Amino acid sequence: MISKKMADSLNRHMNVELSSANLYLCMASCASDMGLKGAANWFMVQYREEMGHFMMFYTYLVDQGVNVSILASKAIPNSYKSLLDMMQKTLAHEQMITGCMNELSEQAINEKDHATRIFLQWFVTEQIEEENNDRDLIAKLKLVGDNGQGVLMIDAEMAQRVFIPPTGAPPVV
Ligand code: FEO
Repeated sequence: MISKKMADSLNRHMNVELSSANLYLCMASCASDMGLKGAANWFMVQYREEMGHFMMFYTYLVDQGVNVSILASKAIPNSYKSLLDMMQKTLAHEQMITGCMNELSEQAINEKDHATRIFLQWFVTEQIEEENNDRDLIAKLKLVGDNGQGVLMIDAEMAQRVFIPPTGAPPVV
């Protein structure tokens, strides 16, 4: 079993994963609107990954006997200056998520809740890859600047991203 305090923290974070999914869904739409179909694919894969994370928290909480709550969420931004702007905001968002994972892990350690600490381990590691992918794309986008051909080359690279369900996550629709 987990404490009420831990369950509440995990439930809050489950909702953050859901809003992350919605953030990337809007970014996919914006990229598509800019004519960047490859970037739209990249953000759609990101959306599906976040839905996987959401389901991992949902399943963990339900398996621990918690009745989960879906909380009200704020409107999601759907206007960006450029692909670089979107990627910079993606990195900032993922850095915020990394901070959440560290806080949740610290709470689990303080409560000697080893099941939750082990559950969170996958996410702690995942955040390294998430931030790294974003930094790579930001560096490339800064190199090409306003050169449309360069942006289209990066867009073509982003078109190659394929969704791989997160390890341990239940199937995501
Ligand atoms: Fe669910 Fe991108 O962290």
